[in-house]
Amino acid sequence: MKIKIEKLSDHIGVQINNFDCGQKLNVVEINKLKEIIQKYHFICFKSQKINGELLAQFTKNFGDLEAYPEKDKTKGKIEIFNVSNVSEDGEHLSPDDQRVILQKNNSRWHTDSSYRYFPSIFSVLYGQETLPPDAKGGQTQFSNMLLAYKSLPEDKKIILEPLHQVHSYNDIRRLEPGLPELTQSEKSNFPPVTHPVIRVHPDRDHQKSLYFTSNTSLEIGGMGLEEGRDLHKWLVDYISKEKFCYKHFWEINDLIMWDNRVLLHRVIPYDYSQHRRAMIRGTVAGKTAVLGPFSNEVRNKL
Ligand SMILES: [Fe+2]
Repeated sequence: MKIKIEKLSDHIGVQINNFDCGQKLNVVEINKLKEIIQKYHFICFKSQKINGELLAQFTKNFGDLEAYPEKDKTKGKIEIFNVSNVSEDGEHLSPDDQRVILQKNNSRWHTDSSYRYFPSIFSVLYGQETLPPDAKGGQTQFSNMLLAYKSLPEDKKIILEPLHQVHSYNDIRRLEPGLPELTQSEKSNFPPVTHPVIRVHPDRDHQKSLYFTSNTSLEIGGMGLEEGRDLHKWLVDYISKEKFCYKHFWEINDLIMWDNRVLLHRVIPYDYSQHRRAMIRGTVAGKTAVLGPFSNEVRNKL
């Protein structure tokens, strides 16, 4: 079947109508979708009718499913993560419920599972309950890190080239003190990792992009704390510029899929007590480390 795409912006994303993600896909369709996401980084499939099982089936077309680090935050299978201010039983949760606090942390720029040494490749998010069109916030915003890197001033590229950031799942607690402590085994399963701030993409002709997050730390490493915070803040302001971004205005039953290696994303804050927002996410596990300009794999190639 021919897959027809409509571009959503100049630099991120396409929309696909008339495609059923709940069906079993053949190799030609899977390869076509892989080609599309490689080129546009984001796909929105409109009007999908799926559940957790079908979301898992669709996500598996692109690789192995990643399991979420905390057992008690998921609905059903641990591979299908509940991104929601609504409980498993359909109850609208209070804004200070730990599950909602965890959602609030998603309003900081991040790329999913950067706290892993092998971060995820794709995320697939299905909107079961979305905000009314006239509500304030609730959109998911994306920023293109390949483009942001390309547009960096040369002096900033030089400064950033050798730097790393620490990504720690446990440090979400540092930014969101309302969350309960992780168990000892959760902590030891996810020790802090570092990733280069400049990422090199072997599958894109060794192009470079930015790679950093705001959901587990607000500092860039390799310098004093204050300097690291200032540089991090500069990066956040820089990548938030409209010219790098696309904002997804959700409609119910949208299924969106994005490439975590290229895009950062965040949810635009909304009134958590007034609106219900329920989504489920499947995640394609990464198989390789994030390479930087000084990684041996890269130096040996250049
Ligand atoms: Fe996310």
